Amino acid sequence: MSDIILKKINSKDELFKGVFALREKVLRIPLGLSLYNEDTSSDAEDAIYIALSDEKVIGCVMCKNIGDDCIKLRQMAVDDSFQKSGIGKLLVLEAERDSLQNGFKKISLHARQNAVGFYEKLGYRSYGPVFTEVGIPHLTMEKLL
Ligand SMILES: CC(C)(COP(=O)(O)OP(=O)(O)OC[C@H]1O[C@@H](n2cnc3c(N)ncnc32)[C@H](O)[C@@H]1OP(=O)(O)O)[C@@H](O)C(=O)NCCC(=O)NCCS
Repeated sequence: MSDIILKKINSKDELFKGVFALREKVLRIPLGLSLYNEDTSSDAEDAIYIALSDEKVIGCVMCKNIGDDCIKLRQMAVDDSFQKSGIGKLLVLEAERDSLQNGFKKISLHARQNAVGFYEKLGYRSYGPVFTEVGIPHLTMEKLL
């Protein structure tokens, strides 16, 4: 695998179209859904951490300031052919490091049930009932930074 580069961008960056395409491919098309049918206007508020391979966006996670020193981590996706090689972990650790440096104290997220184990390995704990989002079961998880 070629070198992986991590970068922080926002939705105005030229690379954001690659982020949008990756989210559509990994997080929506497999569920028969499309981001084009959603209001994505709040993407503009988010800090976006990306992983690049050969200048192509192959991983992303987005962080929204939701107040009370808390970040909501969302839209976590790694391209299928790069999954299980440590890129998701690298992205979450980078988002945590940068959020802490910017004064945030907690990260909260809605985890797809089949990704709960991924977040648990990174120190997130689930609480509350299972709920449905994008048609599939989710759990709320959080981690103190
Ligand atoms: C879930 C996802 C983001 C993980 O990214 P990744 O790059 O494949 O994960 P990593 O290789 O960094 O894995 C880190 C650790 O978590 C484990 N892990 C990865 N995915 C896992 C999963 N779905 N369930 C349990 N453990 C998982 C890995 O085995 C690894 O363990 P190790 O440290 O003991 O070796 C990625 O698989 C993905 O994009 N999945 C489809 C979309 C999705 O479900 N996104 C999350 C929405 S909440």
